[in-house]
Amino acid sequence: MNLTAANHRIPLSDGNSIPIIGLGTYSEPKLTPKGMCLTSVKIAIDVGYRHIDGAYIYKSEHEVGQAIREKIAEGKVKREDIFYCGKLWATNHEPERVRPCLEKTLEVLQLDYVDLYIIEIPMAFKPGDEFYPRDENGKWLYHKTNLCATWEALEACKDAGLVKSLGVSNFNRRQLELILNKPGLKYKPVSNQVECHPYFIQTKLLKFCQKHDIVIVAYSPLGTSRNPAWVNVSLPPLLKDELLNSLGKKYKKTAAQVALRFNIQRGLVVIPKSFNPERIKENFQIFDFSLTEEEMKSIEALDKNARLVELLMWRDHPEYPFNEEY
Ligand code: A2P
Repeated sequence: MNLTAANHRIPLSDGNSIPIIGLGTYSEPKLTPKGMCLTSVKIAIDVGYRHIDGAYIYKSEHEVGQAIREKIAEGKVKREDIFYCGKLWATNHEPERVRPCLEKTLEVLQLDYVDLYIIEIPMAFKPGDEFYPRDENGKWLYHKTNLCATWEALEACKDAGLVKSLGVSNFNRRQLELILNKPGLKYKPVSNQVECHPYFIQTKLLKFCQKHDIVIVAYSPLGTSRNPAWVNVSLPPLLKDELLNSLGKKYKKTAAQVALRFNIQRGLVVIPKSFNPERIKENFQIFDFSLTEEEMKSIEALDKNARLVELLMWRDHPEYPFNEEY
């Protein structure tokens, strides 16, 4: 496949397509100045990004929507050039909450539809307005999870024209199979958004997903922001890796660009987050070089099967996805 800065969409199983690089927009809300997400998305669109990954729970979705609408108003892009992925949070798995949630996202974005809407994590939490519900002792308040019922409510949203494609995130093989084998399944998940980078290459999950025409969207493709509150920071920083840096030197690229190129060459979509103009540009400059087969293999050999985003605080949830092999 000839991927270029101007044309880098790959097909989805439902007939739609997805740009192979997107801008991630998660940034700790309390530490992020107002307007930073807005500016970053506008810069990204100017640079050539056509895919933005966000979520209502990130508390910046209104800025993403404003940036997209401003760029459309300027004539820089048309709505159909842009691919926006939104997410259904864990407190909203109950079928009757699904459509109102998506409608809330559309209202915040001030857009008529999203391109992709995904179940953010396979674990349901107590329904309500509290994103992270806990009892008075700090214990997490979980909820009975019925992924198939949630999925059917999402299918109805697609039929209503509120979303073009449906997917999931942080699902393991068993959870994907639950949906794929659901009696009366109308729409298959087109994508599974999971952590993936040279220290965690997801060989088995990737193979399974490829077999079922599910695109893997790689979050934290650069090895995350390394926030000790939710990241396993005992692992060495990916971007300091010797091999990634030496390959970067060969191609006059950075370790980050090599890590992103590695994933897109394997057919994965990457969504590096950056709110820094230089790094937003840097991360998009991955279409003017390619890694040889041998180099791809040598990067694969860096795999440490090391998950950085373990979500360990929820490991006692019955649907915690990361206890199984893949
Ligand atoms: P910044 O926004 O300051 O650029 P995620 O795992 O959520 O995708 O986060 C990626 C992290 O890596 C962010 O903290 C981001 O910070 C940083 N980052 C993004 N691009 C680069 C790059 N090219 N080189 C180094 N760090 C980067």
